[in-house]
Amino acid sequence: MDSIRRCGNGEGMKDIVLRKFAEVFGDAGGTEVYFAPGRVNLIGEHTDYNGGHVFPCALTIGTYGAARKRTDDKLRFYSMNFDHLGIIESSLDDLTASQEAGWTNYPKGVIWAFGEKGMKAPCGMDLLLSGNIPNGSGLSSSASVEVLTGFILRDFFGFDVTNQDLALIGQYAENNFNKVNCGIMDQFAIAMGKENHAIFLDTADLSYEYAPIALKGAKIVIACSNKKRGLGDSKYNERRSECETALQELRQAADIRSLGELDEETFEKYKGSISDEVRKRRAKHAVYENQRTIRAVAALKANDIRRFGELMNESHISLRDDYEVTGIELDTLVEEAWKIDGVIGSRMTGAGFGGCTVSIVKDEAIDTFIAQVGKAYQDKIGYAADFYVVEIGGGPKKIS
Ligand code: GLA
Repeated sequence: MDSIRRCGNGEGMKDIVLRKFAEVFGDAGGTEVYFAPGRVNLIGEHTDYNGGHVFPCALTIGTYGAARKRTDDKLRFYSMNFDHLGIIESSLDDLTASQEAGWTNYPKGVIWAFGEKGMKAPCGMDLLLSGNIPNGSGLSSSASVEVLTGFILRDFFGFDVTNQDLALIGQYAENNFNKVNCGIMDQFAIAMGKENHAIFLDTADLSYEYAPIALKGAKIVIACSNKKRGLGDSKYNERRSECETALQELRQAADIRSLGELDEETFEKYKGSISDEVRKRRAKHAVYENQRTIRAVAALKANDIRRFGELMNESHISLRDDYEVTGIELDTLVEEAWKIDGVIGSRMTGAGFGGCTVSIVKDEAIDTFIAQVGKAYQDKIGYAADFYVVEIGGGPKKIS
């Protein structure tokens, strides 16, 4: 079945990007190669901009980049994922976002953000990328490019920043250059990734803990709906402002700084101060999802993977009914997954409105899962989903 992909570790990618770099930019002398992962969130959705917890992990798939400093101010970008666009040029004194700049708004945004923070790049660069994260899938290909760019800038120019700073600068670029009001989860998961571990991050203060994910006899399977989406044209910013308004209303009754400070009981006590029913459901999701995430990590630590799976399922229901960010594509993938013996848990992951689901599936059920969910999806939606059996990888690195 050609819609099954078992993701490799990118072996040979270094040679591929170097060869292409030489072809596109003339030669590859003095070029360095880097990698930054994509991410999947296991639980804790739409909590990161509400001062709640998230539980994402970095993947072994991600973005490879070949880069070389220039002697002038030019920036030349090329992506093997968008070959038809050719070389896209810019320069250090024209760091503005534009529609024509397409995907290059992500690396440009990060170069701009470094400058805003007093770390101006002293010269331009040629950068060639090749990613094996499906574009627009919700596995954070854009955050991967942002963290990769920051990592390259640090390596080239010796800027004094930690990996956590790379995450914050990436988010700053996304918010202020690309005008998507995202939280910190994606960039953090990517910059701080650790092999075989998920990151239990409290977005209220950025304290975090690595939790080992040892799924004995099961794997993480990602189903990509192939419904394209971009955060900018989605209702992401709208959800965010609904939560902000609900918080302001709650603050008239309770002394809180974020929805993440409430547990279910306190929310139920004060929810009457939210004047609109829709907003009440949005806030309920943010509060309950945060508590679910805390419980899910506790279940995992207690080796109760069954409970972890149930909480994943509850997360989906809440995102479907209260937060309303799923849609027929994601609901079909998840509801079909729930029918299969050997599926421990399944839910949408990322922003929603298209993108992917994440499921924990017992080894012996993976083939059935892919065949059955794949067929039901094709029958109902009219086009195919893609399936990826993924592994949890580390953070960004230079490939020497
Ligand atoms: C996107 C954003 C994240 C987070 C998720 C939803 O991936 O970039 O900050 O809000 O959606 O959990």
